[in-house]
Amino acid sequence: MLNAPCTTDIALVKNTSEALSFVAYGLDWQVGDNIVSSNEEFPSNRIVWQSLADQQVEFREANLSTAETPEDALFALVDKHTRLISISSIQFASGLRMNLQRIGEFCKQQHILFCIDAIQSIGAVQFDVQKYQADFVMADGHKWMLGPEGLGVFYSSPAAREQLKLTQYGWHMMHDTHNYENKPWDTHPAAQRFECGSPNTLGIHALSASLSVLLDTGMATVERQVLANARYLMDAIQSHPRLELLSNASAHLQSGIVVFRHTQMTQQALYTHLQENNVVCAMRGGGIRFSAHFFYNVAQARHATSRNSGTPVAVIRSPTQRIGDAPAALRPPQTEHKAAQSWLPQMALRLFGIKF
Ligand SMILES: Cc1ncc(COP(=O)(O)O)c(C=O)c1O
Repeated sequence: MLNAPCTTDIALVKNTSEALSFVAYGLDWQVGDNIVSSNEEFPSNRIVWQSLADQQVEFREANLSTAETPEDALFALVDKHTRLISISSIQFASGLRMNLQRIGEFCKQQHILFCIDAIQSIGAVQFDVQKYQADFVMADGHKWMLGPEGLGVFYSSPAAREQLKLTQYGWHMMHDTHNYENKPWDTHPAAQRFECGSPNTLGIHALSASLSVLLDTGMATVERQVLANARYLMDAIQSHPRLELLSNASAHLQSGIVVFRHTQMTQQALYTHLQENNVVCAMRGGGIRFSAHFFYNVAQARHATSRNSGTPVAVIRSPTQRIGDAPAALRPPQTEHKAAQSWLPQMALRLFGIKF
């Protein structure tokens, strides 16, 4: 799912924040260095860099809408003291999808490290650490990967990994892992060096099952369906006179996240209305965020939209709304992929046309 050259380049970590902290506190910063990012980042990809201020390291936040492309906005802040670009592959509050290949090429040319918070991509859209020439990639498993909380992945290229001094120690990060008498000891050459102690075995089994669902379906199919769902929702929102789409609708900037607002209802009222109608969503980015995964199918929609079913069913679940999503995704019939287009029009009319 990452297209890492080797599985040994991936460490299993607690979450995205932990992996970002490995990078931030592993690099040997010089006074005057800077990190370039955006002003749309989730706090995990901001505060860890801001925390380096006491080492005289500057955190620069690009306004991604001020240049011709979001990438140009980042590049404009780079200078000869830039050591790292750290960016979300897809912005959590707008759904903006970055051109990672372009940023990776730029970073290589400029000898800048490239760090990607990929939590809103992996499991939703295809991802390729080699194509993006990424040095560090991290993602928690509980969003689009449909895993449990408390287990994430951290990719580091072998060269970049060598630049990180270690900040956590324990038996599991030794090269000769099960030789408890080895004094002195060596650091594990692979990414396992970031796994200091006993693994989260329960979480690993659960994530493995979730990933099987995605891989059995095929990430190309998953991505196609996620983008089709988002595109349909965007079209429905754009064709409604009182709804305003806040996500960028350009195809190359599109992700699985769709954010919109109502021009006459408060965000809170709209959110409450949707919750009352069993539509799971989130308040983000000045509006309501939908993030419909690939597993919505015609049968579910029929059930969900039936007035007589008597069973409250979430019509559009968000993988960012964790509770209940993983079991739903793992139910066998839901792995059968079907196009959502046929039910989404009815949904959109019902949701967006009648009540608000
Ligand atoms: C872009 C992004 N990064 C990180 C996180 C969460 O970080 P962690 O995995 O450390 O909980 C989120 C959660 O919403 C997110 O949207």
